[in-house]
Amino acid sequence: MKSIAVLGSTGSIGTQTLDIVDRFPDKLQVKLLSASKLSDKLLAQIQKYKPEYVYLPKKEDIKGVNLLYGEDGLKEMADLCIDLFVNGIAGINGIKPTYLLLKAGKRLATANKEAVICLGEVVGDRYNGIIPIDSEHSAIFQGLKAGDKKEVKRIILTASGGPFWNRENLDGVSVEEALNHPKWKMGKKVSIDSATMMNKGLEIIEAHYLFGIPYDRIEAVIHPQSYVHGVVEFVDGSMIAHISPTDMRIPIGYALSYPDRWEIYQKTANLWEYGKLEFYQPDEERFPLLKLAKQCGEMGGAYPTVLTVADEMAVEMFLKGRIGFNDIYKVVKGVVEAVDFPPPKTFEDIMEIIKGTKAVFNKVVSVF
Ligand SMILES: NC(=O)c1ccc[n+]([C@@H]2O[C@H](COP(=O)([O-])OP(=O)(O)OC[C@H]3O[C@@H](n4cnc5c(N)ncnc54)[C@H](OP(=O)(O)O)[C@@H]3O)[C@@H](O)[C@H]2O)c1
Repeated sequence: MKSIAVLGSTGSIGTQTLDIVDRFPDKLQVKLLSASKLSDKLLAQIQKYKPEYVYLPKKEDIKGVNLLYGEDGLKEMADLCIDLFVNGIAGINGIKPTYLLLKAGKRLATANKEAVICLGEVVGDRYNGIIPIDSEHSAIFQGLKAGDKKEVKRIILTASGGPFWNRENLDGVSVEEALNHPKWKMGKKVSIDSATMMNKGLEIIEAHYLFGIPYDRIEAVIHPQSYVHGVVEFVDGSMIAHISPTDMRIPIGYALSYPDRWEIYQKTANLWEYGKLEFYQPDEERFPLLKLAKQCGEMGGAYPTVLTVADEMAVEMFLKGRIGFNDIYKVVKGVVEAVDFPPPKTFEDIMEIIKGTKAVFNKVVSVF
């Protein structure tokens, strides 16, 4: 029996993680649940899974479990004896839990790319034990097992291209249109990032830190069918591609069962049902956030964090109707060009960069 903690249990990744617990009650036991607040959804999960612990950012009135809360609670959580921590928190709220769990040497399966990116410069060497949940990174993680790291020529991350990959004019895109992802049902932030293709840019930076592969050997390719999730190309010309149905429970299940494989997906997926598989080069003129993300990754230092924070704030403003879809790029670029932070050396430096970026963002966005 593997004990697990599910951070972000009420979100898209969290609920799909719990779906797998339902399928394998003899293999997985939920020891901790965590969300941003005590919602009805979280209460129902507590009743169903009866975790020993719940972590919440603030104190709440809750009975029958050990409630950990606030800063001290986060530290206590990181010290708990739990076999696997699954991080499905969205955005930069996941940074501190990720940092504390890595520092405490815990086994971590993470979908929280924002934390990996922001912490990359200071804890990159501790990423070896992480099991990635993002489907592309899970694909690469599995593909890398086909050879030695020094034999890797390139890794390729596929992108569905989101709802607009073949739409010419992106002026006046509505929130509803941008949230309407053709292939995946995900949380709002990652859905908008997919529509701008920032998600692929963030994933390139995430892959750089997780796998220690230089940027000039990481590529993104548009694959609208979303059956091929990632490809590892070795020096002998072999390309090991990961193909699976478009179902996040497959990479989540792999992270939960690793190093074993369980019968996560019961149907037989016939390749002929997939039909034609297409691949296109991303258009960085129409999706400039992809290009900006790659530049920030290559510049390193504070830039990956600045990019992540500015994007999260810009997406939030777009969702609230305060800025337009194309303004997301303009604002994020404005912030990246306005900052001049020294490279972070410690976790505290990263917190300072986040604070500084928020202040710069508010100035930049005030003219929109
Ligand atoms: N969804 C996907 O298919 C998918 C695929 C690949 C990668 N990812 C990545 O996975 C991460 C999560 O995405 P998602 O789509 O699952 O997001 P989501 O549906 O918006 O869920 C976010 C979760 O994080 C929780 N949360 C927010 N702040 C928290 C805090 N301070 N402490 C504890 N929990 C907190 C939320 O709790 P409340 O409900 O209480 O607010 C919610 O449970 C993102 O980094 C995303 O890029 C997602």
